[in-house]
Amino acid sequence: MWDYTDKVMELYRNPKNVGSIEDADAIGEAGSLSCGDMLKIYLKLDEKGIITDAKFQTFGCGSAVASSSILTEMVIGKHIDDARKITNQEIAEALGGLPPEKMHCSVMGHEALEAAIANFYHEDVKCPEKGKVICKCFNVTQETIESEIKANNLKTLEDIMNYTKAGGACGKCQNEIKRILDETIQSEKPLTKTQMILKINNVIDKYISSELRKDGGDIELIDVEENKVFVKLSGKCQSCNRSQLTLTHFVEATLREHISPNIEIIQV
Ligand code: FES
Repeated sequence: MWDYTDKVMELYRNPKNVGSIEDADAIGEAGSLSCGDMLKIYLKLDEKGIITDAKFQTFGCGSAVASSSILTEMVIGKHIDDARKITNQEIAEALGGLPPEKMHCSVMGHEALEAAIANFYHEDVKCPEKGKVICKCFNVTQETIESEIKANNLKTLEDIMNYTKAGGACGKCQNEIKRILDETIQSEKPLTKTQMILKINNVIDKYISSELRKDGGDIELIDVEENKVFVKLSGKCQSCNRSQLTLTHFVEATLREHISPNIEIIQV
């Protein structure tokens, strides 16, 4: 039997904010009845973007009810952009924790909130059906598996089953899930210095040098030490009194965009 916290039990017995909002400003859904649980969340906002009311309807287990209930309490009073920062870990933490096998309930809450906020801003809602479905039993896509691995630092097949349910029924998709897990973990390993130099030179060639040459200048990569990238400007860029601006606003920004947000440019 799973160990539930008092908070989960309390909200399962007496959930808050159950129901719908007729003139809701945003509605989001996650899960599906065919997969065993679903959640629909309704938000009402004032003119400043503050969430003044939130309600939910769910078909799911006690953890799904408790996760949905606490989520509505967490968002009420928040600006919609701050609500967007709520993670599934924070939903679980607000409940005093969830059994690992039930973490997918916090993920469902997070997905429904994301969908509601996307609905408010008229953004394209992430549609799982559009991706490659890996787990047919629970209709879970490769994109969902990859993003949950990254967001929750998942390390095993069991973790993925707990967070997404994928692989937890017939099991036919488990080999495919393991492959995605290995590839995702592999892709997150830090680059070696040689790989980093090659990648930086590539970005310089492709996006930076050609722009600087238009103004009679250029740039050369001198060295890399962890996140510090040492470069030398040449031609007209060398004597330009705006060279520091070029380095931070263009060179550093371009490398951050294409390689890593931590890159720091140092002129030598
Ligand atoms: S296809 Fe994934 S559990 Fe059945």
